[in-house]
Amino acid sequence: MTQLYSQISGWGKYVPEKILTNYDLEKMVDTSHEWIMQRSGIAERRIAGEDETTATMAVAAARQALDVANLAPTDLDLIIVSTSSPDYFVPAVSSTVQAMLGATCPAFIIATGCTGFVYGLVTAHQFIATGAFKRILLIGVELISRFLNWEDRDTCVLFGDGAGAVVITPSLAPRGVFSFDLGSNGDQGHHLTLKGGGSANPMSYDVIDKGENYLYMNGREVFKFASRVLPRSLRAILEQSDLSLQEVDLLIPHQANARIIDMAVRSINFDPQKVFLNLHKYGNTSAASIPIALVEAIQEGRVKADDKIALVSFGAGLTWASVMLQWGVSSQNLNGHGAAAAMPVQAEKVVI
Ligand code: COA
Repeated sequence: MTQLYSQISGWGKYVPEKILTNYDLEKMVDTSHEWIMQRSGIAERRIAGEDETTATMAVAAARQALDVANLAPTDLDLIIVSTSSPDYFVPAVSSTVQAMLGATCPAFIIATGCTGFVYGLVTAHQFIATGAFKRILLIGVELISRFLNWEDRDTCVLFGDGAGAVVITPSLAPRGVFSFDLGSNGDQGHHLTLKGGGSANPMSYDVIDKGENYLYMNGREVFKFASRVLPRSLRAILEQSDLSLQEVDLLIPHQANARIIDMAVRSINFDPQKVFLNLHKYGNTSAASIPIALVEAIQEGRVKADDKIALVSFGAGLTWASVMLQWGVSSQNLNGHGAAAAMPVQAEKVVI
């Protein structure tokens, strides 16, 4: 059987208009701009408007990605939405997104927190590599601000809302995902939880009184986990793809905390110039962080044809997910609509 690669042939992002700065937060909780900057590198984050939902943000990012890929929603074979802050438990927000886009394909969600987008990319890659599907829309989206306790300075200063989307199509040339590393330490799950509202602890007045309807995080434990797992998982995808650290052109880590990233990168002597960071603008947008960063890296000309790009994520679960990608399009085609028309989307040529 012909070997099929899974290339990213469309991309888009959406962030809400409303900006919440550290100075705004100083008026809400006992914190300071200096503390937040020094401990996390975050200066501001976006907060969804009252009329927005996870689905509306996902659709805004998805429409851009479809435009770039030159595809209509009805061309899609599959939609995957990675999120841990859906509109509702039931129906899955993936079906809401499918209906809002006017797509007719199957759709499902992945809810592994901050690693959801990369878990989704690896999942999409399997469908493409087996020839089962040819046009997959993957969205990482979070409207996490509605699940934060705005009186809890341990969490509310760190997160933000947003969405990023990619379209994944087959390629005969080596493109897209060529190695991955997925993992889960479920016994550490209690360090990052939203305890209330599920079957173990159904929503009740008691849940609300205890604040269990909000995200809880043991920052120190998550910090330790993340700074250990980031270099380890990066090494794992390098080994599998027979690449050295020096051959990586761009590292896009999950945008959780500049200190975690800095420590991890230093620990392996990785060139900090090759690390893409935008968390100062958005905070931790969980499953949306890597796709938003990827889109901005493309728009800023940081991604060139044949570049080897490492995506490394970590988060709730506690989980990790990393992917080594080879980029398949030249940077001069990367701005504006219909850019993918100028690049070979090889779905049509593939014989399965
Ligand atoms: N503003 C001011 N002070 C704050 C604060 C805030 N927003 N949040 C906590 N503090 C205080 C603490 O109460 C503590 O005070 P104390 O010493 O009087 O008890 C002090 O700052 C130090 O707290 P500590 O938890 O040791 O800080 P830290 O250096 O570990 O930084 C985090 C806290 C949350 C920034 C850090 O642990 C972290 O980034 N963890 C990982 C979070 C993450 O990335 N999660 C998502 C992964 S997907």
